[in-house]
Amino acid sequence: MSHDPSLPAAGAQPGLVVAMTGASGAPYAVGLLRTLSRLGRTIHLTASPSAAQVLHQETGLSLSLKRFDPLIFGDLAPGRLIYHHHADFTAGIASGSFLTGGMVVIPCSMSTLGAIAHGVTTNLITRAADVHLKERRKLILVPRETPLSLIHLENMVQVSRAGAVVLPAMPGWYHRPRRLDDLVDFIVGRICDQLGIVNSLITRWGSEEAGAEAADDRPGEHPEA
Ligand SMILES: Cc1cc2nc3c(=O)[nH]c(=O)nc-3n(C[C@H](O)[C@H](O)[C@H](O)COP(=O)(O)O)c2cc1C
Repeated sequence: MSHDPSLPAAGAQPGLVVAMTGASGAPYAVGLLRTLSRLGRTIHLTASPSAAQVLHQETGLSLSLKRFDPLIFGDLAPGRLIYHHHADFTAGIASGSFLTGGMVVIPCSMSTLGAIAHGVTTNLITRAADVHLKERRKLILVPRETPLSLIHLENMVQVSRAGAVVLPAMPGWYHRPRRLDDLVDFIVGRICDQLGIVNSLITRWGSEEAGAEAADDRPGEHPEA
């Protein structure tokens, strides 16, 4: 008997939807895809035309929306990344009957945020987000814009009221990032936390590791201090 793709295989975790849009912050999306793939999760990926433009601008990666090549993201586990064109409303993720473990819009443009806030579902990204809200499933939006207008802020309130998690691309600095990857890991780690995915991407405040780092830097502890 063939396996129904809308159902996770027996014992397997349901797939996660990752949607990329045209806000700045494409490296966060690439980091999330790599982490979820490394953790063995099935990913349903979709991306807007602006996402492809910004991805190329920020990383040099060329994402063809018509002829998708998973290899552009590096060594993702083969078969775990399922791509859907942003105009394909026949994709499983456009329907509430297709089971998922949640959805992340990363980065989330103000345009897509506004469409989700107002139930405007003119592409697969906003339709899948709408489905996650109506099915009361986890929807995480990772917006990036600065400064924020009243329209942006009200749209964030609106999606929060509807059940989404607004997780802005605002990495903390208290873990003393040294590399750009540390900033990416901070956001990806917090997204994984929201999805209930056990991870060690971040040094957790209050952990022994964080305490050791703080102790290292106390005045007088270093010979050169
Ligand atoms: C290099 C670049 C950076 C951009 N950065 C942002 C951004 O940080 N936030 C945002 O809301 N829009 C940003 N935009 C504009 C969006 O791409 C644009 O509003 C687009 O219509 C969003 O469409 P989408 O939501 O379908 O992806 C950026 C565009 C470019 C080319």
